[in-house]
Amino acid sequence: MILPIYIYGHPVLRKEAKDIDPSYPNLKELIDNMFETMYNADGIGLAAPQVGLDDRIFVIDLSPLEDEENPQYKGFKKAFINAHIISRSGNIASTEEGCLSIPGINESVPREDEIEIEYLDENLMPHKEIFTGFTARVIQHEYDHIDGILFIDRISAIRKRLIKAKLANMSKGKVSCHYRVRTA
Ligand code: NI
Repeated sequence: MILPIYIYGHPVLRKEAKDIDPSYPNLKELIDNMFETMYNADGIGLAAPQVGLDDRIFVIDLSPLEDEENPQYKGFKKAFINAHIISRSGNIASTEEGCLSIPGINESVPREDEIEIEYLDENLMPHKEIFTGFTARVIQHEYDHIDGILFIDRISAIRKRLIKAKLANMSKGKVSCHYRVRTA
């Protein structure tokens, strides 16, 4: 089922999400719905607050990015539950990001290029892994969502000033995109 995507200005996007417990109802169904919602909106990642839930869950599918130069994305379709970043390291690089909750805005965001993260997968099996490069970036973007942080919080003051009016309109419900949304 495709869920509406919550748009900038909705308070759920600013809440720190909580760990879920193993009795969480219909977890598999929620994860399936999150993937379906993400694909429908042409995204590569989606976090639970973006569908109105303050739970520490996000999904990522990088497999569409697989090609000869990027074989590491093959089959990279993962759910991250109760994720906690243990450490961030490596160089800080800036790359343009967008967000399904902030349609029409793309900005360069500085992030560390290596992270170590603990999480449960969709079967609630624990993992502790290191991710690098663009994968680490996407995970950090989604992880920010479950901490109530948006990529526009990490851009320069000048850039932020330039998009201020657009953001103000968005939080008043003025938004146009090709998928179903819920505004504040
Ligand atoms: Ni996002």
